Amino acid sequence: MAVEPVVYGASERPPRGDYSRAGADYTCPQDYASYTPADHATYRRLYERQAALLPGRACDAFIAALPSLGVKDRIPHFDEINQRLYQATRWEIVTVPGLIPEVPFFSLLANRKFPVTDWIRKPEEFDYIVEPDVFHDLFGHVPLLFDPVFADHMQAYGKGGLKAHGLGACELLSRLYWYTVEFGLIRQKDGFRAYGAGILSSPGELQHAIDSPHRIVFDLKRVMRTRYKIDSYQQTYFVIDSFQELFDKTAPDFTPVYARVKTLDELSAAPAAA
Ligand code: PHE
Ligand code: FE
Repeated sequence: MAVEPVVYGASERPPRGDYSRAGADYTCPQDYASYTPADHATYRRLYERQAALLPGRACDAFIAALPSLGVKDRIPHFDEINQRLYQATRWEIVTVPGLIPEVPFFSLLANRKFPVTDWIRKPEEFDYIVEPDVFHDLFGHVPLLFDPVFADHMQAYGKGGLKAHGLGACELLSRLYWYTVEFGLIRQKDGFRAYGAGILSSPGELQHAIDSPHRIVFDLKRVMRTRYKIDSYQQTYFVIDSFQELFDKTAPDFTPVYARVKTLDELSAAPAAA
């Protein structure tokens, strides 16, 4: 029986979503029949607005893969996306009622299954939503699952999460996810670009992230030491040069890394005063 998940970061709101729909692995069928015409219109408007902002701001791999999501004028059937995704990288998306606890989350990723929330935000949350909805999860996360190196990294993260759980290091590992998969920047020949889903699915953060002067070269321990806020734009962004770099820098055994980081002070989410 599914129970509500724990979330790290600063937020006092309980998670939304009907967890009684979910099975033991927290997945459920996509409730396609419950989408209203207004829900489909919200998705279409979010997609249109965000797609227009991508050139010069989103990384090349994301822009190249976005059409693989298929229809943009309504919420897609996840099964349709899966036909293409499985062929590309052997990943699949599965439906969940909302945020899920860390162990089931890691287990899904370790099995190359990415959980996607099926409900969509209300019109009054059009610009900003704290919890992930279908637009964030699909538009933000799924395109890069078509990239073979990024796809392998996500599976490694899932396996690493199960290990971190046994080591009492989930919060440290969650910072890695936050500052890469959600809010990572990549340096391309033509400039800094977003690859993090939290940036790519947010109109305000996309511009903010590209303009931000507070960019730090990716450093695993520094990332793990840095707290984060979930209810405002980020104040610090970590930059990689390639997904291969991300994969390689996260491949070593984290056991000694966690042990070391636990002895060091946490760093503020805000940039250090000069
Ligand atoms: N190398 C990590 C470990 O040994 C696992 C991991 C891989 C974590 C990739 C995150 C991303 O724990
Ligand atoms: Fe996300």
